[in-house]
Amino acid sequence: MTKIAIKGLSHLYPDGHCGIRNINLQIQPGELVVIAGQNGSGKTTLCKHINGLLKPTSGNVFIGDLQVDRNPSKARQLVGMVFQNADSQIVGETVSSDIAFGPENLGLKRAEINARVKKIIQIVGLDGKEDNSPHTLSGGEKRKLAIAGVLAMNPEIIIFDEPFANLDYPGSVQILDQIVMLHQTQRTIIIITHELEKIISLASRLVILKDGELAKEGIPSTIIKDVEQFGIREPCSSKLGYGLQSWRN
Ligand SMILES: Nc1ncnc2c1ncn2[C@@H]1O[C@H](COP(=O)(O)OP(=O)(O)O)[C@@H](O)[C@H]1O
Ligand SMILES: [Mg+2]
Repeated sequence: MTKIAIKGLSHLYPDGHCGIRNINLQIQPGELVVIAGQNGSGKTTLCKHINGLLKPTSGNVFIGDLQVDRNPSKARQLVGMVFQNADSQIVGETVSSDIAFGPENLGLKRAEINARVKKIIQIVGLDGKEDNSPHTLSGGEKRKLAIAGVLAMNPEIIIFDEPFANLDYPGSVQILDQIVMLHQTQRTIIIITHELEKIISLASRLVILKDGELAKEGIPSTIIKDVEQFGIREPCSSKLGYGLQSWRN
């Protein structure tokens, strides 16, 4: 299990837009961290540096001893990212071939790929849909497929970018269940969301970004009363004095 260390990380986009500025953050193995912040606060930009999709303008991200920008392909094996837009992650003609895409690129043997795909389809609950076209799946099923594609690479660290976006209540609960199940398999989980009430009771830490900077971080129950000054809604249960609840409680 590997620690993530983000040191003095800044990213300027080519058009001069500042994505993030001087972020310092450590994430311990096995944590479930929620990263929250208003639209445009830098959440996605930050996380794309953890799996090497963006290169720092200054500063570094380390996963254990690995400096991510020196070996982004290795970083992508350690860190899987489930993107906000599930459609953008679809690469296969069928559910099975979509999930097999990553392991095929790793050069695994056909028998092993098939076994992996079969197991993962069960885990995410897409059984019976193996031969369907991904484009015919519902929003929730597409997100499950995106999770399956990430799981097929067996990463130690999984980032979910707005995992509840556009999902109805049952869809959100199913994704929550997946996240909990993955966390129980000793993985480090990072969740980007501004919908704190769905997940915050499960988190070990809350990190708040504002205008590209790390505005606040800490144990959720300790800092939850401060979130609204950063444009994030305080969960109703907390407002009413019932502490932190998740949608699974
Ligand atoms: N490809 C891009 N080119 C230029 N600016 C960008 C790009 N992507 C994001 N930004 C800018 O970087 C800032 C942070 O964006 P982002 O990380 O997407 O925020 P969040 O995920 O919190 O909504 C915003 O000001 C946004 O406009
Ligand atoms: Mg984003």
